[in-house]
Amino acid sequence: MDRVDSTARRVVLVTGASRSIGAETARRLAAPDVHVVINYREKSKRAQAVVDDIIAAGGSASAIGADLASTADVTAMVGQIGEQFGRLDAVVLNASGGLERDAEPGYALRINRDAQVRLTGLVVPLMPPGGRIVFVTSHQAHFHSTGRALPEGYEPIAASKRAGEDALRALIPEFGTRGIEFVVVSGDMVDGTIIVRLLERRDPGAVAARRSTGQLPTLDQFADAIVQALDAPVPDGHTVYIGGDDYLIPST
Ligand SMILES: NC(=O)c1ccc[n+]([C@@H]2O[C@H](COP(=O)([O-])OP(=O)(O)OC[C@H]3O[C@@H](n4cnc5c(N)ncnc54)[C@H](OP(=O)(O)O)[C@@H]3O)[C@@H](O)[C@H]2O)c1
Repeated sequence: MDRVDSTARRVVLVTGASRSIGAETARRLAAPDVHVVINYREKSKRAQAVVDDIIAAGGSASAIGADLASTADVTAMVGQIGEQFGRLDAVVLNASGGLERDAEPGYALRINRDAQVRLTGLVVPLMPPGGRIVFVTSHQAHFHSTGRALPEGYEPIAASKRAGEDALRALIPEFGTRGIEFVVVSGDMVDGTIIVRLLERRDPGAVAARRSTGQLPTLDQFADAIVQALDAPVPDGHTVYIGGDDYLIPST
């Protein structure tokens, strides 16, 4: 495999970038001095379409299929990135799971906590000082401990994503010794996503309840926020909030 001159380009991995939020985030990274690695689980055509969009916009991209729940897949993906580029400047930990119809009990924790921590451990040695890790989550997960009502079926996802966030936050001191920065981007339900359409079918009242608090963030707004989190100064508490202002008001 040809080794790309990585000094010329910032290399950014976006997990779960074959559709929805990950895909929109990846498209926004299109620039001549950035190479975007599009990770996907099985939808290779969709991932390739995102690659094509980035190249058409003047950027550089490639797709790597890897089920993040599989140690072998993730090790191979990170190995490929290391061989091809020699480094990784930023990672967007976007991929998430647990709502799939066929998900086994325990899968949510495997993908949303264990897989995130494993991938992070593998990429950190490739990241130079100044590298950045952005973890994407939902307010329903980030604020899980507040005990707010959740859409039907979302409890295991909320708990496991919060567990993943906590496990990554516990690594902040280690990231610090390497000069790597860590940011969480947490959003309310994002309008226009497949997941919100799915939740709306399962539990229309839960989505209507969020809509009644104000306008939900759009896909564009959320993807913009993730891209900004790759470069903006690390915010207080390492967290950027998008939408759902009522979550930010402490309950009395
Ligand atoms: N949707 C919302 O309203 C909302 C709100 C706030 C925060 N978020 C957060 O934003 C992120 C993205 O959400 P989304 O709604 O865009 O998700 P989504 O539509 O379910 O997209 C999932 C993406 O992740 C990939 N993926 C799923 N399981 C994977 C695995 N085991 N290994 C590798 N890739 C895998 C899928 O690839 P394939 O297509 O190839 O399977 C797809 O590209 C999540 O972290 C979510 O918690 C979402």
